Amino acid sequence: MHDLKKYIADLTNSIQKSLDSIDSLTACHTFHTQFLGKKGSIPALNDMLKECTIEIKRKLGPIIQKLRAETEIALNNKIHFWTIKEQDAAVEKNSFFDVTLEKNIVAKGSMHLLSLVTHELEEIFISMGFAVCKGPEVEKSFYNFEALNIPKDHPARDAHDTFWLDGYPDLLLRTHTSNAQIHTMQAQQPPLAIVSTGRVFRNEATDASHDFMFMQIEALLVDKQVSLAHLSYTIQTMLRNFFGNETLTIRMRPGYFPFVEPGLEVDASCPFCTTGCSMCKGTCWIELGGAGLVHPKVLQACSIADTIYNGFALGFGISRLALLKYNIPDVRLLYTPKIPFLSQFNTLNR
Ligand code: DAH
Repeated sequence: MHDLKKYIADLTNSIQKSLDSIDSLTACHTFHTQFLGKKGSIPALNDMLKECTIEIKRKLGPIIQKLRAETEIALNNKIHFWTIKEQDAAVEKNSFFDVTLEKNIVAKGSMHLLSLVTHELEEIFISMGFAVCKGPEVEKSFYNFEALNIPKDHPARDAHDTFWLDGYPDLLLRTHTSNAQIHTMQAQQPPLAIVSTGRVFRNEATDASHDFMFMQIEALLVDKQVSLAHLSYTIQTMLRNFFGNETLTIRMRPGYFPFVEPGLEVDASCPFCTTGCSMCKGTCWIELGGAGLVHPKVLQACSIADTIYNGFALGFGISRLALLKYNIPDVRLLYTPKIPFLSQFNTLNR
């Protein structure tokens, strides 16, 4: 009896050690054969028990049964664990995707037309000495309106159907890139010249030429004795370069924007015709954006001495410029992931 008891205790120990060292499904099978199979050590205990007295059978029988049951449970857990682990490893091995292999390159990616156009415009301004900066899309009312001389209840706010953020009474999605003017002038004293591009948002119905989100380009120059001639030359240079048309001219009409005085609407001579076409609706002029000389109140809001400095600002729709240059009939095409349409512009990638 004593010998068998000790044997069971030793066997229990070695079962535990073997269980701990299982490291694969194959090891699970080996373990089963060694301890639980027909010729395994646990069934062998029963054979040994058969030789013993009834008294010993009563004492050791339940211990052997318990050992068997616990060993089976532990082994099942190990089988479950290693089955999943080995399946995962197989999936991982088969799905390994080597992006550097030529055969795996299905189609080369390319920049979206709007990104290309944005970079092109930025580069034109960089060549004129402007620095590129970004303004936030989620903005405080102060930067989008008040500092730009559009106080609360000002009728000019009607033209900007604003998306306000639920639960944040002072936060909105910027309605124009003009907010970048204020961030720049708060951070930096003149002379300064920046260009800022990005998305703007208006709570408007969408149609072929409007979307609730579109892109703008803003430029701001503040220095001493800045004139409309500087502004006019800058706009003309930008448009001539962008449309690749050296004879393009611009026309400026009075327009109202609270942050500039005088404020101007800017039209370009139609880059596509001289006698009137569908692009310019027969007028030979295409309306492109707003501009003007920075309003003294805007300079004051940014603690810039308006008695010493003045400046010009301009804001154009990038989406509109892209539609015109590439003859795209509907602005929504630019925001839908239609590969056949978008891939037409792949060759523009450098
Ligand atoms: N922020 C104006 C808009 O979105 C466009 C604009 C007009 C920008 C005149 C300017 C400007 O910088 O001087 O309607």
